[in-house]
Amino acid sequence: MSIVSTPFTYIEGELFCEGVPLSRIAREFGTPCYVYSYTRIVENYRRFKGAFAARPHLIAYAVKANSNGTILRILAREGSGADVVSGGELVRARAAGIPPEKIVFAGVGKRSDEIEQALREGILLLNVESIAEMETVGRIASRASLHARIAIRVNPEVIIHTHPYITTGSTGDKFGLPVSRAIDAYRRARENRSIEAVGVHMHIGSQITDLSSYSKALEILHDLARTISDEGTTISYLDLGGGLGISYSGEPVPGPGELSAAVLPLLEGFKGKIILEPGRSIVGDAGVLLTTALYSKPSSPRSFLIVDAGMNDFIRPALYGAQHRVLPVIDREGPEKIVDVVGPVCESSDILAHHCALPKIEAGEFLAVRDVGAYGFSMSSRYNSRPRLAEVLVRGEDVFLIRERENLEDLTLRERIPKFLS
Ligand code: LLP
Repeated sequence: MSIVSTPFTYIEGELFCEGVPLSRIAREFGTPCYVYSYTRIVENYRRFKGAFAARPHLIAYAVKANSNGTILRILAREGSGADVVSGGELVRARAAGIPPEKIVFAGVGKRSDEIEQALREGILLLNVESIAEMETVGRIASRASLHARIAIRVNPEVIIHTHPYITTGSTGDKFGLPVSRAIDAYRRARENRSIEAVGVHMHIGSQITDLSSYSKALEILHDLARTISDEGTTISYLDLGGGLGISYSGEPVPGPGELSAAVLPLLEGFKGKIILEPGRSIVGDAGVLLTTALYSKPSSPRSFLIVDAGMNDFIRPALYGAQHRVLPVIDREGPEKIVDVVGPVCESSDILAHHCALPKIEAGEFLAVRDVGAYGFSMSSRYNSRPRLAEVLVRGEDVFLIRERENLEDLTLRERIPKFLS
């Protein structure tokens, strides 16, 4: 189990990101805004890399966790590949300098244009999720005289202890193919001259802290690999997906070292390359959401602290009941009260943190919601016509605006008014 330090620490009562006080960032760029630590992202990536160094491997960062171009460039410079799930993510990964031979493309609903885009880019693997999709890939490849290297995504149907919305490898999930169907898919792939099935893919879920799910899934994949290799398919890539959890409440959780210790011994007979697709464990603890307190509303049975960040800016608590720690940017002694930290959006589920112990917070004070680097900005929206927020990167004592706050004109930029109304 590893407890890792955080780049967000109090120095003389004031919360810093690396060498920069968060209050300075809040004043300079306004709130709400996301703040990321460069150093933590790089450390997290290197920890993963180091854990798997004993075997040929590729870390394909899951772009969906945080797709900001600067973050992708940081990871590209470290040598990371990318796991993408749309043509948009593929374009972002390529623009950040991630070479096609380090890109894998998953997703149950790839459109034909996205498949063609991926084939033309010459990415490493299309991770195919159904037989119908595989046939479409074959047709597109043959029509465009392109070669399609694929992995079949297998649903090992294991029980995963995480939020039901983020399991992807259990019975009834829409992802991948159960083992028997996967064997059939490899047979069909061998008959299709435009397709070369070179890999097996799994991604069993997200925020996984019980590593036995990986071991169980791998044993199932092992048997599958043996069956298909006896039938003549050589597996050069074993893609284990992402899913490693992080510590949202400070409790120790397994890190990449424990993951590699759990899975590598099971892969001793495998000669090919291992692919990993971490997202959350690379960027999750590297980000906070800075917000300003607007109003306190003591009431019974709940007291509210209303802040200027809402569920449109950060949806994890509303969508999954996720618990994130909230810290005052200026620390102080004094009695704490239990409050629900809520946003301005017109929904009762617009909650940033349930049942949060905080000292008395005055209007205008800054707060930081922790561990929001993954699935924070990337899941934000403009609901309630709230422009998307800014993103800031800290590296040592330097601060960089890496995404400007949207303005009110951005809200209607792409709308068109029909003639009869203008
Ligand atoms: N690979 C594939 C094919 C995936 O679908 C995902 C995440 C990953 C890798 C990266 O998983 P990670 O290492 O980040 O757990 N929005 C949810 C998480 C959804 C994850 C979707 N797939 C949340 O905020 O918890």
